[in-house]
Parts: sequence; structure tokens; C-alpha cells
Amino acid sequence: MKRILVIGGSRYFGKSLVTQLRDAGSTVTVLNRGSSPPPPGVGLLLADRDDEAGLRAALGRRDFDVVVDQVCYTPLQAAVARRVFAGRTGRYVMTSTMEVYDPATLPAGSAPHTVPVAEESLDPTRPPLPLGEEPGSPSRADAAHAYAEGKRRAEAVFLHEPPFPYVSVRTAHVLGGGRAEFTGRLAHYVERIGAGTPVDVHRSPYGTSFIHHLEMADFLRWTAGETFTGPVNAASHGAPDVLALCATVAEQLGRRPRHRVVEAGADASPFSFDRAYAMDNGRAAALGFTFGRVADWLPGAVAETARATA
Ligand SMILES: NC(=O)c1ccc[n+]([C@@H]2O[C@H](COP(=O)([O-])OP(=O)(O)OC[C@H]3O[C@@H](n4cnc5c(N)ncnc54)[C@H](OP(=O)(O)O)[C@@H]3O)[C@@H](O)[C@H]2O)c1
Repeated sequence: MKRILVIGGSRYFGKSLVTQLRDAGSTVTVLNRGSSPPPPGVGLLLADRDDEAGLRAALGRRDFDVVVDQVCYTPLQAAVARRVFAGRTGRYVMTSTMEVYDPATLPAGSAPHTVPVAEESLDPTRPPLPLGEEPGSPSRADAAHAYAEGKRRAEAVFLHEPPFPYVSVRTAHVLGGGRAEFTGRLAHYVERIGAGTPVDVHRSPYGTSFIHHLEMADFLRWTAGETFTGPVNAASHGAPDVLALCATVAEQLGRRPRHRVVEAGADASPFSFDRAYAMDNGRAAALGFTFGRVADWLPGAVAETARATA
């Protein structure tokens, strides 16, 4: 039996992770600010992870076999966690994102060249791109840049001479779960295609990586119990582009998809990409995780979203 702390753990796949770990026999504690109670059989520590003294006070003398950090977005948060959890955990798993590979948020010439992208093609400890100095400043691009660079820098803080065995899980776009998928990105497609409204797409969109929300929880549960370290990509097999996604949604709804091609550089619907950074899931597969296929679970996820938004 392992003693596992999940920082966050109160919604979507974080919530499923907590129940999966508990059901697998681990002693599970969540740490968050208490906006919702943990499920039965799961402990709760109340703290804001940004408040180092408060975090230490909430943890007291506790230590853990594994910490899964679901809500680390900045190098400052990583630095606090690094100090606080050194000597307190046997393993640290940070939930990162495939956006760390996004060429649109990397300095020109430094984006990975080979797609699907493998873990070693990105060194997050390289000198960072200063926030706010990239060309163009639409707010959506700024937010995407801040998110990607925040995750890269957070990874870099942990990866530099890690004080504990450390893993960054570079997570594909997570779908499924109906209303629990709080970002509303699949709902965007269901609503538009259901209403006959065109979906905004790039002229020659690239495929991207996805993972089912329960598969993602399972992946983190599995990672917590393994001994490998370093970055690892988490994605189901298959990388549909936005047109294939629309076709699946339309088929489930019994509608015909309509598309509107946006100007180069303009915003399109979520999951329409004018650049390629779908992920290679070979490292995790070689380590023993069996991924599902997007084509197998996406129709069910669409149907679930359609029911939830009806
Ligand atoms: N969804 C996707 O498609 C996707 C794709 C790639 C990567 N990811 C990554 O997946 C992770 C999952 O995020 P999630 O929000 O769904 O996870 P989660 O495990 O459910 O954690 C969310 C909870 O964390 C708590 N929290 C937030 N800030 C906190 C703080 N400063 N101190 C203590 N607790 C805090 C909040 O609860 P309280 O208000 O009670 O504190 C919040 O409800 C993120 O790291 C994201 O970057 C997601």
C-alpha cells in the first residue's frame, strides 16, 4: 500500500485519479483549498500551495511515497514544491502538457522538428523565451504562451538536479466525461455542428493528440506506481485533425459538418492547428502502459457530451 498525496484532485481526471488510487488500495490524501470535499476514504489537507509557510504547516511531519502535482503552472510553484517536498516524498509526478511542444510558443528554430514529437526533442532547461517578448499580442496567444512557458519552466525547476525521483507527464488534450469536461471544447463542436453552424478551421489543419479522461487518470495512477523518471508523453493512439474530429461529431449527431476556413494567423476553433506537434507515446508504451485508440473512444465521448448539453 502506498501513501499518495494529490495536490488538486477535486475535478475531472484529478478526481478520477483520486478514486482510482483509493480503489487500488493506496492511502490517498488530497491537498487543496477546500472548495469541495474529497470522496469517502480520502484524506484532506487544506492549503494554498502558493503559500510556502501555510503549505508546510498543513503538511506537518507527514511524508509520502508519491506526490502527484495536478496544479503546478509556474516555476515559482515548482520551486516552492521542490523545497517543501525534498525529503518528504519518494517520487514526484507533475501533470504537464503537450503544449510544451507547441512551436507557436517556442523561440523560432527551437521547436521539435520530428512529428510525432518524442520527449527528448524538448529540453525545458534551455534558456527560456522571455514572457511577453514574442511578436503579436492577441490575448489568446498570450495566454497560450504563458501556459506553455509556465509549464516548461516549472518542469525545468524540477528537472535540474531533482531532489527526488521526478516525472513530468506531458498530457494530450483530455476529452470525455460530459459536463465534467469543464473546458467545454468538445461541447463547442457538438453545439456548432448540432446547430448547423460552421466550425472555424485552418486551411490545412494538422492532427493532434488526445486522451480519454479515465485513461488519463489511469495513466497517472500507473505512473505513481512505477519507477521511471523524466518527461513522458501521455496520449491515446491516433492523432485526428479538426476535420476528422468534425466528421466523428457529425456522424454521432446525424448531421453534416460545415467548416469555415479562417485567414492565416487568425483564431480557429479549439483543436484546429496550423502547426504540428502531435505526440509520440512510444516511451510510455515501451515502459508498459497500454494506450487506447482515439477512434475507439471518441464517438462515445461525443455522445456523452451531446447528452450532457441537450
Ligand atoms: N484538461 C486538459 O485537456 C489538460 C491537457 C493537458 C494538461 N492538463 C493539465 O492537467 C492538470 C489538471 O488540472 P485540474 O484543474 O483539472 O486538476 P485537479 O486535480 O482537479 O485540481 C484542481 C483543483 O486544484 C485546486 N487548486 C488550484 N489551485 C490551487 C492552489 N494554489 N493551492 C491548492 N489547491 C489548488 C482547486 O481546488 P480548490 O479551489 O479547492 O483549491 C482546483 O479545483 C493541469 O495541470 C493542466 O495543466 C489538462
